[in-house]
Amino acid sequence: MSTLENELVAAIRNIPDYPKPGIMFRDITTLLGNPRAFRRAVDELVHPYAGIGIAKVAGIEARGFILGGAMAHQLSTGFVPIRKKGKLPHETVRIAYSLEYGVDEMEMHKDAIKPGEKVILVDDLIATGGTAEAAVKLLRQIGADIVAACFVIDLPDLGGRKKLEALNVEVRTLVA
Ligand code: PRP
Ligand code: ADE
Repeated sequence: MSTLENELVAAIRNIPDYPKPGIMFRDITTLLGNPRAFRRAVDELVHPYAGIGIAKVAGIEARGFILGGAMAHQLSTGFVPIRKKGKLPHETVRIAYSLEYGVDEMEMHKDAIKPGEKVILVDDLIATGGTAEAAVKLLRQIGADIVAACFVIDLPDLGGRKKLEALNVEVRTLVA
């Protein structure tokens, strides 16, 4: 494991049986509250994407907003929120998806990205990949060119990375 990965792993808190028995919840609030770990995670997430014409970072509610806002600032791009249903005021595209522990719907504004714009998708964690797969479909529906999908944490046993790679999305994760 690299020193960065070690540092990030140490900064993430694991909570057994949350929100349901059998789930080991990876709590990134401790990483976000650690100034050095937060900066190092964001720096590492963005570094391949500086100066290559990225127009937007799209973050998945809720934890993808925190990372995505910081990444967009660092890359001098716009930020696009992909939200749980019913939160966005203008015309949206919407999709249903299933999670490690439930089902939900997400949406984004139809005009948030212009066709052909280069986009980085971000969330804190990829588990089954259901959430990220749905976000990829929404982004492509409005014509986004997805350059990569980035996550701090990969839970490889749940197969999310493979699901995105099967959609021809480059996946970048910092900690497994
Ligand atoms: C978590 C996490 C990802 C998703 C990953 O969000 O932040 O968005 O689960 O799971 P998947 O790869 O199996 O789809 P959650 O749905 O708990 O929502 P929240 O961030 O709003 O709490
Ligand atoms: N989302 C899906 N699975 C998760 C986990 N184990 N920890 C945190 N967020 C999650």
